[in-house]
Amino acid sequence: MTRQIVLKSRPTGLPLLSNFETREIILPELMNGQVLLTPQIFSVDPYMRGRMNEGASYIAPFNVDEPIAGGGIAMIAESRAQGFEAGSFVQGFIPWQEEILMDPTGLSIVDETIAPLDYYLGILGMPGLTAYFGLLEIGKLKQGETIVVSGAAGAVGIVVGQLAKIQGCHVVGIAGSDIKVDYLLNELHFDEAINYKTTKDLDAAIRLACPSGVDVYFDNVGGEISDTVISQINKFARIIICGQISLYNSTSIPIGPRLQGTLLKKSALMQGFIVSNYAKRFPEGLNALAQLVVSGQLNYTSTSYSGFDKLPEAFIALFEGKNLGKLIVKL
Ligand SMILES: NC(=O)c1ccc[n+]([C@@H]2O[C@H](COP(=O)([O-])OP(=O)(O)OC[C@H]3O[C@@H](n4cnc5c(N)ncnc54)[C@H](OP(=O)(O)O)[C@@H]3O)[C@@H](O)[C@H]2O)c1
Repeated sequence: MTRQIVLKSRPTGLPLLSNFETREIILPELMNGQVLLTPQIFSVDPYMRGRMNEGASYIAPFNVDEPIAGGGIAMIAESRAQGFEAGSFVQGFIPWQEEILMDPTGLSIVDETIAPLDYYLGILGMPGLTAYFGLLEIGKLKQGETIVVSGAAGAVGIVVGQLAKIQGCHVVGIAGSDIKVDYLLNELHFDEAINYKTTKDLDAAIRLACPSGVDVYFDNVGGEISDTVISQINKFARIIICGQISLYNSTSIPIGPRLQGTLLKKSALMQGFIVSNYAKRFPEGLNALAQLVVSGQLNYTSTSYSGFDKLPEAFIALFEGKNLGKLIVKL
């Protein structure tokens, strides 16, 4: 017997614990070509909220009554698959189960001697690659430019700001607590950081933090924060649409200012992207990030919940801003 967490019902608005259910299942026997996995760490990520809705997106929705799946690191407990030895660690899309039988195609071996296992879900995983390729391919940062990043103290944001600092930019972070602002300023050495929840006038705060205007905006949150930043862009600005977390629980599409006039007047570029667009170049991105981590130029932090049962609570915490850095669940 093992346990799994399924999507019991599709959330309306903010997900509730009642949208999830833990069930016991019987594991069949290990077959040729399969591995038995014991997950060690699960990643909870904002995009998983989109998979809880019905309908087509860039990734298929979760089915009701079936286990949630997400990024994870697991130990191979038993193996009948070539190239996947018992005792080694793998990462990939893994169902929320305490033990799993899987065909390991699509999983990759992780080397815990290079970095701690949880790094492979954060700075040396999907969020790190998102920051890297978003900045490189759309941001096209130049030394001395001003970049604003929203969701600045999260998994993607902390990498964006640090990469921009390495490139000699003026870096401004927007985040939702004083602890986060303090971390951005004092640990990651952002030039300015703004607590959007307590500042009385976000427009004025951004103006003060960006005396030369905004050349690049790395948008992780969308909504009113982004409307305000975009109203302050410079000529030839680049707006990187990475995420819109402030809207993921919306039940209708909110109406905001029409941006085309601003983009036109400023000859600005606004482009969305999905990190998997760059899948063929992941080795290049990981190599660059790993070098910066190993040389101590990139710092990393995560917030972890403990125990399989905490997965739904941890996932919901993303929308309540309870994480500093990458949010993970250790089993
Ligand atoms: N395009 C891609 O391929 C790609 C890949 C990875 C991630 N993403 C997107 O990038 C964004 C960041 O992802 P992540 O993994 O790094 O998550 P994260 O920033 O580690 O966690 C989510 C954070 O979002 C903030 N947030 C939640 N609700 C908010 C709201 N209503 N308004 C403003 N901020 C809110 C919270 O921080 P505060 O305390 O600051 O509010 C929370 O800690 C997400 O939108 C995600 O969907 C896109």
